[in-house]
Parts: sequence; structure tokens; C-alpha cells
Amino acid sequence: MSSTTGSEARRQRLADTIQNSGDLRSPAWRAAVEVVPREDFLPAGIFQPDNSGKYTVWKPIRPDTPGYLDLVYEDQSWVTQLDGETIPAQAAGPVEGAPTSSSTLPSLVVRMLEELDVEDGMNVLEIGTGTGYSTALLCQRLGSQLVTSIEVDPEVSGRAAAHLKSAGYDPTLIVGDGLEGVPEQRFDRIIATCSVRVIPQAWLSQTAVPGGRILTTLWGWMDASALVSVDFDETGHGQGTVLPGMVSFMPARAHQAPPLPVLPDRAGTSRRTAVTGEVLGDWTARWLAQLAAPTAQRVQYSEAGGRRILMLDRESDSAAWFAEDGDHWTVSQTGTEQIGDRIEDVVERWTAAGSPDQSTFRVSVTPGRQTIVHPTLGSWDLPTL
Ligand SMILES: C[S@@+](CC[C@H](N)C(=O)[O-])C[C@H]1O[C@@H](n2cnc3c(N)ncnc32)[C@H](O)[C@@H]1O
Repeated sequence: MSSTTGSEARRQRLADTIQNSGDLRSPAWRAAVEVVPREDFLPAGIFQPDNSGKYTVWKPIRPDTPGYLDLVYEDQSWVTQLDGETIPAQAAGPVEGAPTSSSTLPSLVVRMLEELDVEDGMNVLEIGTGTGYSTALLCQRLGSQLVTSIEVDPEVSGRAAAHLKSAGYDPTLIVGDGLEGVPEQRFDRIIATCSVRVIPQAWLSQTAVPGGRILTTLWGWMDASALVSVDFDETGHGQGTVLPGMVSFMPARAHQAPPLPVLPDRAGTSRRTAVTGEVLGDWTARWLAQLAAPTAQRVQYSEAGGRRILMLDRESDSAAWFAEDGDHWTVSQTGTEQIGDRIEDVVERWTAAGSPDQSTFRVSVTPGRQTIVHPTLGSWDLPTL
């Protein structure tokens, strides 16, 4: 365990903060937060984002930097790896890159652990070990022997293994694709700290029934997401809720969108639309657009005429442009699928219904079909992969 001066007091303050925000609700998880030292899982430093320029750059902060412990105990996500390789200890100064591993903000980690609704004796599979901090909380709460965690990146997993061991925990750690789960095993709870486009079949067959629960973020290629909690009955069918709040996680590596091609020029006949950039910027509207066109990618850019939001579906070779034109917006589309119409239809109906929150939607899961359902707006199948 960490012997860093002030760590214990900071852990208690962190527990107070996330208890006051309502994310930490039970004495058992509070006890875990008070015991597990987050700094033990961040010994190579963190990357702090600097958004002052055109592109985000990542400033490495080393553990010997004054105030490091205060940063560690902020309720913040800290990026710990860029582009699948660079860790803060290797960066001489600010660097560009895409985050590929992080320590998730503690309030979200704990909120998800609370939503998991574990009881003593339950076994848990975690997807996305990352730094190992959330794995350690699970071990502290349930005992290491009931915790299995999968991490796709061998170096990330290796570091987590060392840090868990020195903190006194000994869960089963697996290096591999978490989308495969652990064949031949059943878990009372599965929790993912990376997001997926659809719940992998392997997780469905590895969830204990009846009574098993999967907690994951469903994400898509428009970069919209929803945290869902799904409970399974004895037939293996799942019913779930979309939880409130704007929760996003880095996508599971195999579910990431393919690289974008050279963007096509705007085409098709433009007509006026009520679906403006502001409307499409709303968290739930963006997610509905993604449900309506699940294989389309979203690209936002500006031209001389104004802002453009392109929805580009390479699978059906279709595209839709929502475009600013003076004081109004237009939509145009090309290709075999009328994705502009589909997005406009659902977003307009959602607006007319009073813009209901994501938490008014439900999730239905069968072995062959996963559907997001709203009592009045309709239902949408998630992609089958
Ligand atoms: C947000 S981080 C995990 C945070 C972690 N639970 C913590 O508290 O530090 C997400 C992790 O998921 C991992 N990951 C991405 N795709 C994965 C996959 N298919 N299987 C397992 N892990 C994956 C990433 O390498 C990354 O380390």
C-alpha cells in the first residue's frame, strides 16, 4: 500500500466529494475508495490536456511534480497512454496523440460500481483493466479471487499487474480482446470501461442467468454513447435501462470506426430543415442520429458558406449533409440509403416530444437482436457485427 503522506486524507476527501455528488451511495464502496490509493496506479505520471491551441496537446506530469498528489485525487479522468504506446514518463514535453488508455474519473468508476449492484460472493468480469484502479476497487470490495479483468494492450496490462500486486491485490488478469470475454465461464456481473457498438455475443453467453447483469457504454461511429444496465432472465433475454448522464468511454479497439476516406463534395438537392447544428449538437439528438444511421460516421467542418455536418455511410455508399445557410440550415443527401431523411425524421419527432432524456429509453437484448426502445418514438436495432 502507498505510504505517501496525505494520501489517506485525500482518499477520504475524494470519498466525500463523490458521496456528495450522489455517485457514491454505499458504505461498502466508500470503504474501498478510502483504502485504494489511486497514486499507486499512476506512478508513471499522467497526461494533462492543453486545449489552448487548434489541436489538443498532452502535457506530461511526472509524479515528482509539486502538487501531483492533488491532481491524482481530483475527480478527473487522467490519460495514461497515447496512440497505443506513449506513456507520460516517455514524453519529454507536450505531445499530440489520441488517448488509448486512462484512469477513469473516480466518480464515474464508483457510480458504475454502485450500478453493478454486487453482493458478497458474486464474481465480476471487467473489460478494460487500464491502470488497474477500478480493478483494485473491485478486489477490495469482493476479494481478488472473484475478480477477472481483461486488457487488450499487453504493456498496459503488465503495468496494471505490477501495480495491483504491490498494492496487495491478486485478481485474474487476462491479456486479450475483452470482446471475447472468458470462454466457458459465467459471471454474475460484467462491467466494461471501454465502449462497444453492441453487446458482444460472448458476454451474453458468459452472463449468469437468471439475475446476471451487464453494465456497459453503447457507443457508435457518430461518437455518441449511452451507459446501459441490462439484467438477464432464465431464458437469457435481457431487459435494461439507459442510465442518465453524459457518459462516454474510449471504444473497444475492434469496434473503432474505419479511417475516413477523402470527404465527398456536397451533393443532392438541398431543402430547408429544422435540424440545425445546435440541435444535432445535443447529446441525445446526436445519439438518435446514430441509432437512425448506425453505420454512418459524423464529420463536422466549416466552409465559406458556414458549418457543415456530414453523415457518411461507407457501407451503403450514402451521405447526408446538414449545412448552415445564412440564418437557416438545409439537408441534402446522396446514395442508396436516405440517411438525411432518417436522421431528420427521428430528431424532429424527438424535438416535438419535448426532447426526452436518454434515460427514458430502454434496452432489449436477445441472442440475435439488440434494440433501443422508446415508448412513443419507436425502436432501433443496434448493428449486428
Ligand atoms: C478507460 S480505460 C480503463 C480504465 C480503468 N478501468 C481504470 O480505472 O483505470 C479503457 C481501457 O480499455 C482497454 N481496451 C480497449 N479495447 C479493449 C478490448 N477490446 N479488450 C480489453 N480492453 C480493451 C484500453 O486499452 C484501455 O486500457
